[in-house]
Amino acid sequence: MRSDANIAGPMTDPVPGPRTESAGEDVSRETLPPMDDTPIGRAAQLAVEALGRAGEGLPRPEQTRIMVVANQKGGVGKTTTTVNLAASLALHGARVLVIDLDPQGNASTALGIDHHADVPSIYDVLVDSRPLSEVVQPVLDVEGLFCAPATIDLAGAEIELVSMVARESRLQRAIQAYEQPLDYILIDCPPSLGLLSVNALVAGAEVLIPIQCEYYALEGLGQLLKNVDLVRGHLNQTLHVSTILLTMYDGRTRLASQVAEEVRTHFGKEVLRTSIPRSVRISEAPSYGQTVITYDPGSSGALSYIEAAREIAFRGVAVHYEPQQHGRVGHQNNQHSMAEELQ
Ligand SMILES: Nc1ncnc2c1ncn2[C@@H]1O[C@H](COP(=O)(O)OP(=O)(O)OP(=O)(O)O)[C@@H](O)[C@H]1O
Ligand SMILES: [Mg+2]
Repeated sequence: MRSDANIAGPMTDPVPGPRTESAGEDVSRETLPPMDDTPIGRAAQLAVEALGRAGEGLPRPEQTRIMVVANQKGGVGKTTTTVNLAASLALHGARVLVIDLDPQGNASTALGIDHHADVPSIYDVLVDSRPLSEVVQPVLDVEGLFCAPATIDLAGAEIELVSMVARESRLQRAIQAYEQPLDYILIDCPPSLGLLSVNALVAGAEVLIPIQCEYYALEGLGQLLKNVDLVRGHLNQTLHVSTILLTMYDGRTRLASQVAEEVRTHFGKEVLRTSIPRSVRISEAPSYGQTVITYDPGSSGALSYIEAAREIAFRGVAVHYEPQQHGRVGHQNNQHSMAEELQ
C-alpha cells in the first residue's frame, strides 16, 4: 500500500467560476488578460489561483486508479477528457498513464506522442504480448505523464483478438505486469463496444462516461451500462460507473441545461459538479500536439478540466472515508484500508 496517501492541501470548495451549469457566460471566454476588477480580470485571478494550487498537490490514491473513459457515441469528448484530466492530475504531482485504445490515435496526437505505423504501440501489447513498459513514452510537456500510443494497426486488432486466448483480458494482464508506480491509468476507448472496449472494461475498476450536452445525449447509454453490468457479472466484479462528466456545455442554450438536469436526475452523485464548457481553445490544442492545460492554462476549458480533476482526486479519498455513501465506488482492498483507518 502507498504510504503517501494523504491530503496534500486543505480540501477547499472548488473555486466558483467556469465550472457549473449556471456559469453559462463562460462559454466563449478564452485567454485572459492581466487582473483587474472586471469579470475577465476576476477570471484571470481564478486561473492564477487554480494553477497556483497545482503546487499543493492533490490526494493520491492508495492504489492505482484505473479509469475507463467510454461512451460508444462518437465525438462526445472521450479523448479530450482523457488527455486533459490526465494532464491536470499530472500537473498536481500524480503519475499518470494514458492508454490510447482507439485506432484513430487521437489521444496520442493530443499528447504530442509519435504514433506512426512503426512505433511500438498498444497493438503490440494486445496482439503480440509485448510488455507495456516497451511501448510507454513520456509526454514531453508534462512531468509525470506517460502515454501508450495507438497506431493504425489497432484497427485490425478487434478482429485479430477474436481467436486469441484470454482475448478479453489481455490489457488487464499487461497492466498487472507493468511495474512502474502509477497513481492513475486513463484508458481512452474507441466509439464502439467491441473487444477493445471490453479489454478496457476488464482492466479497469472505474468507468468515466463523458456526456455531451446535446440532444440524444443519453441515447445508447443503456447499451454501455448493460455492457458494464455484463463485464461486472462475468469478468471483473470491481467494475462500476464512478464518474459522469458533462462536456461541451453551452450555457447560452436551454437545451444544455435541460440535458444537464436530466443527466443529474438520472445518475445523481456520479455526475461531477464541474462541467466542461464548449471552448475553442480546447478544440485547438490537439493540433499543436498539446492538451489545453499546457496550450492555454488560463482558458475556461483548462480551468474546468483542472477542477474536474480535483473533484475526481478528492472523490477517491472520500470513498476511503465515507464507505456508506459511496459504497459502490472504490478499490478492491478498500475494506482492508478502512478497517485499518478505524483501528
Ligand atoms: N469542450 C469542448 N469544446 C469545444 N470542442 C470540443 C470540446 N470537447 C471536445 N471538443 C472537440 O470535439 C471533437 C470531438 O471530441 P473528442 O475527439 O474528444 O471526442 P471523442 O468522444 O473522443 O470522439 P471519438 O468517438 O471519435 O473518439 C474534437 O474535435 C474536439 O476537439
Ligand atoms: Mg476519441
